[in-house]
Amino acid sequence: MHRVFIKDLALYEGKEVKICGWLYNKRSSGKIFFLIIRDGTGIVQVIVSKNDISPEIFEASEKITQESSCEIIGIVKKEPRSPGGIEIILKDLKIIQISLDYPISPKEHGTDFLMDHRHLWLRSLRQQAILKIRSELIKASRDYFDKEDYVLIDAPILTPSSCEDTTTLFKTDYFGEDAYLSQSGQLYNEAAAMAFGKVYCFGPTFRAEKSKTRRHLMEFWMIEPEIAFCRLEENMQIQENFISFIIQRILSKLEKELIFLGRNLEPLKKVIPPFPRISYDEALEILRKSGIDFKWGGDFGGGDETILAENFDKPFFVSHFPAICKAFYMKQDNLKPELALASDLLAPEGYGEIIGGGEREDNLEILKGKIKAHNLNEEAYKWYLDLRSYGSVPHSGFGMGIERCLSWICGLEHVRESIPFPRMLTRLYP
Ligand code: 4AD
Ligand code: MG
Repeated sequence: MHRVFIKDLALYEGKEVKICGWLYNKRSSGKIFFLIIRDGTGIVQVIVSKNDISPEIFEASEKITQESSCEIIGIVKKEPRSPGGIEIILKDLKIIQISLDYPISPKEHGTDFLMDHRHLWLRSLRQQAILKIRSELIKASRDYFDKEDYVLIDAPILTPSSCEDTTTLFKTDYFGEDAYLSQSGQLYNEAAAMAFGKVYCFGPTFRAEKSKTRRHLMEFWMIEPEIAFCRLEENMQIQENFISFIIQRILSKLEKELIFLGRNLEPLKKVIPPFPRISYDEALEILRKSGIDFKWGGDFGGGDETILAENFDKPFFVSHFPAICKAFYMKQDNLKPELALASDLLAPEGYGEIIGGGEREDNLEILKGKIKAHNLNEEAYKWYLDLRSYGSVPHSGFGMGIERCLSWICGLEHVRESIPFPRMLTRLYP
């Protein structure tokens, strides 16, 4: 018999179907059993009544345990009180493997226990909802840049030099030479932007961040566009259009999953351009009014970002940071060289920075000076400096962390649930 997916059952009302999945839960009331089956596309309740089936099949439905794999044949029936408005009347049950005592029972478990069992925890409806939204977030991000005619360029993962803070490099051996896992594809993107005009890369990035916060992962995925002949303001316009596009897409396609996660949809519905823009100095004013004595020159921490966000009900930009707290490639403001033409996009509701970006230094001599001031080895950046010698133009770009953005969209307390197998300061397993 032809296999049907649970999400499509409504199309088969009154018909006999086969579904393949796992037992999610089981209830009984007297002579009737209720088997809750999941198959990754949804869950459905299967009614087992002793009088309608053979004793062998009834026995199988008695002994099937949580997470056992099985095939079910039954008749699809309308039932408004069931999930999906559909249930199945069992005719045949074939157990493929009886699951051992499943460690994740419906009772509450601690976070460490769940993280140790991440390979099984993925089967919960909550984790499935989050990771389906992740999948659509990535698709929507790619769709946005594809429809705007950006060319996808894959940046290397093994690199000879750093893009961001050298203290967060993961070092490895490359046939006797030092190599580092990529912190960002940006520098290669800049080369590609000079070839194609508008490009983006998407891939895993790595930071040996010795911070144990709810926002930091050691391995995260970043989507990074880079645009030739583009300045700071236009770069921010691209970001607000992009973010609004992905939020509207997720609201229209995955509202059910967001509601399942308990997400309040109202703040997401407000994510429409333009987004407010404040300068770093204005952000400092806001912090001071909240009683925080923030010293000019530092970058904001998670707590500062949360306080700033209390003043906005949409994502908002902070721009014109002190150059000393940003990376070497940031273009300096020609009128105030102590400032960098950089911007961060902060999510509302206390989720902090989801995008970092800005204009790149396009002047060869100034860039050389920055490389020196950051104690970087000019030799390693020879190719990158070439871009400023052969047709240099103003250009900008940004990077959005998928996990930070997803945590905000889903309303997660911690970034660890936003990626299938998180790599954190104290976790490399499973
Ligand atoms: O602000 P960042 O460090 O910017 C860059 O890497 C630029 N080179 C990007 C570019 O302009 N092409 O990182 C960008 C974003 C952050 O806003 C955040 O969303 C995410 O990457 N991010 C992290 N996400 C999870 N864990 C970490 N440790 C992260 N570090 C950065
Ligand atoms: Mg940043």
